[in-house]
Amino acid sequence: MLRVNVVTLFPEMFVGAFAASILGRAAEKKIVEYRVVNLRDYAHDRHHTVDDAPYGGGAGMVLKPEPFFEALDDLKVAPPIALLSARGKRFEHADAVRYSMGQELTLLCGHYKDVDARVATAAGVEEVAIGDFVLSGGEPAALCVVDAVVRLLPGALGDHESASTDSFYDGLLSPYSYTRPPEYRGQRVPDVLLGGDHAKIEAWRRSEAERITKERRPDLWAKHEKDE
Ligand SMILES: C[S@@+](CC[C@H](N)C(=O)[O-])C[C@H]1O[C@@H](n2cnc3c(N)ncnc32)[C@H](O)[C@@H]1O
Repeated sequence: MLRVNVVTLFPEMFVGAFAASILGRAAEKKIVEYRVVNLRDYAHDRHHTVDDAPYGGGAGMVLKPEPFFEALDDLKVAPPIALLSARGKRFEHADAVRYSMGQELTLLCGHYKDVDARVATAAGVEEVAIGDFVLSGGEPAALCVVDAVVRLLPGALGDHESASTDSFYDGLLSPYSYTRPPEYRGQRVPDVLLGGDHAKIEAWRRSEAERITKERRPDLWAKHEKDE
């Protein structure tokens, strides 16, 4: 069982997401357990203050280090601890695989202008970005990470095939899929998929995966060629 801890100012953002679809089913099946804690519970003043003005001045508020450190002490977590951060290393399939193989994963969500740098540089903490854009908070990023990780846990998907044939699993983008009807608004399903010859279908899927990856992600294609 993977234990997923989330430290956030907005626990309510996880309630629906952790109860629905694959994430919810995985929890029901005891493949994953979620613990979502409110950063504000680790503030000690009357107003539950978790932020303060930045040293050196400037716009926006910075989340204080103490509540994060105290939440981590309280949860007694083992690494990996991922601080969601636009300046972090880009989260990729390989990270999802690495996280899915551990016993525990802890996600720290920032908000406002920034998080005190001492959280990012604390022992065991890695900064993780989900793309080259800025979100208002780490919560949607944490949800992306949890979803990508949980779907890789054995038993989380009804049919493991569907993870192993997804994009990135073998370093390529996935070929397109079709379902009925065979023709719709002038667009036809490729004949090979209608023919029932499984070897031919596999060969078509492979060549489509290669074509699409080569066209759209030359970086992935170059890596794939090197690794082959
Ligand atoms: C408004 S952002 C802060 C952005 C920060 N001032 C910067 O320029 O890098 C607030 C929080 O959203 C989260 N966040 C924003 N963009 C993100 C991204 N691309 N990946 C992961 N987390 C992100 C982080 O937790 C961050 O602390």
